[in-house]
Amino acid sequence: MTELWDDRAQAYRDSKTHAEGADLDLVVEWCAPGPGRKVLDVATGGGHVARRLREQCCEVVTTDRSRGMKPDVVSRAEDLPFADGSFDCVVSRIAPHHFADVRKGVEEMARVSNDVVVIEDTLFSSDLHEEAEKLRDPTHVRNYTEVEWVNLLTGAGLEVEQRQLHEKVHPLEDWLARTGCEGEEAERVRELLADRMTGDGTAWTDVKIVLKARKSQR
Ligand SMILES: C[S@@+](CC[C@H](N)C(=O)[O-])C[C@H]1O[C@@H](n2cnc3c(N)ncnc32)[C@H](O)[C@@H]1O
Repeated sequence: MTELWDDRAQAYRDSKTHAEGADLDLVVEWCAPGPGRKVLDVATGGGHVARRLREQCCEVVTTDRSRGMKPDVVSRAEDLPFADGSFDCVVSRIAPHHFADVRKGVEEMARVSNDVVVIEDTLFSSDLHEEAEKLRDPTHVRNYTEVEWVNLLTGAGLEVEQRQLHEKVHPLEDWLARTGCEGEEAERVRELLADRMTGDGTAWTDVKIVLKARKSQR
């Protein structure tokens, strides 16, 4: 799986849907950026969150399990090589649906934060959409519902302070090309996403959930 992501690295750096959007703006805002703020960006991919936070003078460390993504530290989210409470904020955007053990990944993010955890991920919508996502990208594990997200964060000792939903439009050809999905598989993906297609069939929409959680003061 790691090699797959190594090969995709440039496509994710160049991806407009990852590089910008109201969802990214909100993630950055909820990280409360400013000079000296220490932030860990988990599963940084093309590094878009880290870039924005560095522009606002945060001290950012990036991790990713793929060496090709050129993170500061190559690491699985489930095994973060940092001491407890090392960062003021730990963030992970559009990545936990790839984690083999999402519960462990969220626990690790909570452990290495001394204050805030910010998550953005795709919201679960239906089993058909999950089938489409897995066909288009075999590294897709599962999207989670809003209730599942709150339970994951609460179970890791965090209190959810804020959450927002954002509709995101994905130009279909770019989205399929990023993971090399073509031919009959691409046709099947189009069928499975029929109820989420835009009128002209050139794009589809999903919903992202953004959550800000804080370590419980127990
Ligand atoms: C869609 S990209 C992330 C997008 C990026 N955070 C952004 O905002 O543009 C998903 C990333 O998750 C990484 N990844 C997948 N499973 C992982 C895991 N268990 N631990 C750490 N990184 C993982 C992949 O290597 C890939 O770089």
